[in-house]
This record gives sequence, C-alpha cells and structure tokens, in this order.
Amino acid sequence: MTRVLVINGPNLGRLGVREPEIYGSTTHDELADLCRATGMRLGLDVEVRQSDSEAELVAWLHEAADAATSVVLNAGAFTHYSYALRDALAQVKAPTVEVHLSNPAAREEFRHTSVIAGVVTGSISGFGIDSYVLALHAVAARLAP
Ligand code: DQA
Repeated sequence: MTRVLVINGPNLGRLGVREPEIYGSTTHDELADLCRATGMRLGLDVEVRQSDSEAELVAWLHEAADAATSVVLNAGAFTHYSYALRDALAQVKAPTVEVHLSNPAAREEFRHTSVIAGVVTGSISGFGIDSYVLALHAVAARLAP
C-alpha cells in the first residue's frame, strides 16, 4: 500500500473543543480514524500526525521528501506566514494537498494569503472533515496508474 502522511499543524490537536462553530465537533483522534479508514478504502496506508511546533513539521516534511511520500497538510495558522514550511513542502515531489476545515478566503483578511498554495499539487478548503476525505481521494487519483 502506498503511504500517505496527513500532517496537522498548530491548534489542530484541540479539534472538538476549539471554536466548534468554525471547526466542527470532531476530535483530532476521530479525524485520524476517518483518515485511516478512508485510506484503507482507497488502498492507501495513511499515517496522521499533529504538532504545534514549526521545527517538527519541517522535519516531517523533510522525511516525506526523502521517502517520496505524499502529504496532506493542514498547516493551520502557519499556512499564512511560514516560509520555512513552504520551503520544506516544495521539496516533496510526490503529490501534496493543502487542506483546511474552514474556508480561509471567506474569513479574516490575514487568512486570505496562503504561502504554501504555490508549492502544493492542489488545495481543498471549506468542507470540514470532508476536506481530508476529498484530499485523500485526490491523492489516490494522482497515484493511480
Ligand atoms: C485552518 C484555517 C487557518 O486559518 C487556521 O489558522 C487554522 C485552521 C482550517 O483548517 O480551517 O488553524 O487551517
């Protein structure tokens, strides 16, 4: 099975309790279960990780780059200003998807900029936890022979 790394950035470990009116009531553990189950259906071996640390996220992206692993990344607020994450993600040559639970373009001005959008294969936003399901479908379609 092809490995896919789902990486969640800062504050996403608090899903379920964090602003549920925006991010929904699903916890991070439940989201991880959903991603793994979706992967099973698609023939993907999905691993889900979460960190609030930019350095750890960069290290995981280096690992994906070196192993040619596809990445589904919700960079949280780092999306809007982390050139370090952008530069790390640019090194991943396997398909990559930027995901967001909410639709940042419909929210505060500072969320309208994504510094990672230009280095991913594609972006999916605004569908809640379904954004991850759609992203995994996109990766599976990209990897299909
Ligand atoms: C988010 C949107 C970001 O603007 C925010 O900082 C997050 C979550 C989303 O999934 O909607 O932490 O990436």
